[in-house]
Amino acid sequence: MLADLQASLLGTAAMSTSHAPPFDTLLRRAYVPYSGRAVATLAVLDDGRWVPGVRVESASFPLPIPALTAALAGAQALGALGRVQAFVSTRPFTATGIALAEEALGRSVRREADGSLVVGDSAPPDIGDAFDVRNAWAQPRQADLGAAVDLARQAAQRARVPHSKFPVGCALATREGLMVPGVNVEFDDWTRGLCAERTALALAVSYGLTPTALTVTCLDAPGGTPCGACRQVIAEHALNVPLWIDQGPVPPTQTTAAALLPDAFLGAALHQPTNARPADGSYA
Ligand code: THU
Repeated sequence: MLADLQASLLGTAAMSTSHAPPFDTLLRRAYVPYSGRAVATLAVLDDGRWVPGVRVESASFPLPIPALTAALAGAQALGALGRVQAFVSTRPFTATGIALAEEALGRSVRREADGSLVVGDSAPPDIGDAFDVRNAWAQPRQADLGAAVDLARQAAQRARVPHSKFPVGCALATREGLMVPGVNVEFDDWTRGLCAERTALALAVSYGLTPTALTVTCLDAPGGTPCGACRQVIAEHALNVPLWIDQGPVPPTQTTAAALLPDAFLGAALHQPTNARPADGSYA
């Protein structure tokens, strides 16, 4: 079934599922102003619901968040990773991507087609609706800044931190009235993980939500501030939105990415027409 779905995405077969994921919409959410190469990947749960991940580029080219990483880290933050049974993507999965999925899930993953993976021996699930972000929380929540520190602390409990043992959590409020969680995720090679702030941002972008405030907590280091890479990515998506930092027992303090990263490199020159990617996708 997933193979059919993938084939249909590539325009090589008729859609065989009555409920296909809205890849057109997801591809439009990808943040790819530099390459134009949108990618969308779904982590499909056992009941058919799915967590989307889209490619999120940065003006600093070595900092992109791949669609699969966004989906994996997002599913982790949403507390849904243990239920992932398949992945579907608009681009073929690489061997590295498959290895990353296996490490994240702690299970073997087999390639059913270039753009579809199945976890373990499970039968591929039928595709359903998007996983509702509100399910991330113990009680369905609207954006509630007063509760944001509590939510960020709740999220931090889902961090995957085998190497640092340093859980970080985020609660990102959105214009749409939702709270999006973020957690840090670590893998054995150390380079493919994601900080909590970038997980929350990638998840918000993947769900098509616009950040209005970001609350960060690290109970092992109350008052700790976002790392340089996160400052960069927050600056690109939420330059002036209030950034709240949990101070432990005392009230959180507020700053912004603009304040934390003066003279940020936002890639204006990279958007010049001379650097535009040819419409035929031949630039790479
Ligand atoms: N970390 C974050 O999640 N956010 C930051 O801003 C600082 C660093 C994570 C990354 C890694 O999992 C661990 O903390 C140690 O660097």
